[in-house]
Amino acid sequence: MRKLGIIGAMDVEVEILQGALAQPEVTRWAGMTFWQGTLQGLPVVVVRSGIGKVNAALCVQVLADRMGVTHVVNTGVAGALDPALNIGDIVISTEAMYHDITTGPLGDPRGQVPGMDVLAFPADPTMVAMARAACGRLGLPHRLGRVVSGDQFVCEDGVKADILQACGGICVEMEGAAIAHAAYRNRLPVVVLRAISDKADHSASMDYVSFEAKAAANCAALTQALAQALAR
Ligand code: ADE
Repeated sequence: MRKLGIIGAMDVEVEILQGALAQPEVTRWAGMTFWQGTLQGLPVVVVRSGIGKVNAALCVQVLADRMGVTHVVNTGVAGALDPALNIGDIVISTEAMYHDITTGPLGDPRGQVPGMDVLAFPADPTMVAMARAACGRLGLPHRLGRVVSGDQFVCEDGVKADILQACGGICVEMEGAAIAHAAYRNRLPVVVLRAISDKADHSASMDYVSFEAKAAANCAALTQALAQALAR
């Protein structure tokens, strides 16, 4: 039986989904509140991890060890790196990597976790295909590609340019690669779904505040559609 772990970093990213669970069972581990219930006929656990890579990785490990999830999705907002992305558009990860791990003097490329066998942690192709089809059904503009993550809100043109040049990627956020990394280590299929809230440049702080709620709502709708597809 499939069971989907749904992780958002912030309240705005999970509260719509929590509200959609009938009579959820609520438990706390590692300072996080886990809401277990059924979404679109699928057993799910919805959790707000808190912001950043360590919170995100911890959250996946609790989902794996204590909740028995079989799949993981990370939903939320992101800053655009690809100029073709507009605010509200959806990004579906094909893979996720860190932009803030730098062990160049050891001979590693930017983003490489020393000793790991991959630079970017892959998304599950079946979940990617389901999310893509759901975007089509919901009429949500979307792009597939690499998500880059780090413990930094990117809101300077120079920082954005540096990340793009070093890592590529179509959007930047603060948890996706850590979630994909932890899922990879636990052999759990994963996908990162993000709605664009800003352009990760000098306009980011203002746009973020204005568009965060709309972007998060788009992503919640998509996550529900993914749950529906996984329930079949
Ligand atoms: N999440 C949403 N926008 C972001 C940005 N500009 N940088 C990092 N994480 C984000």
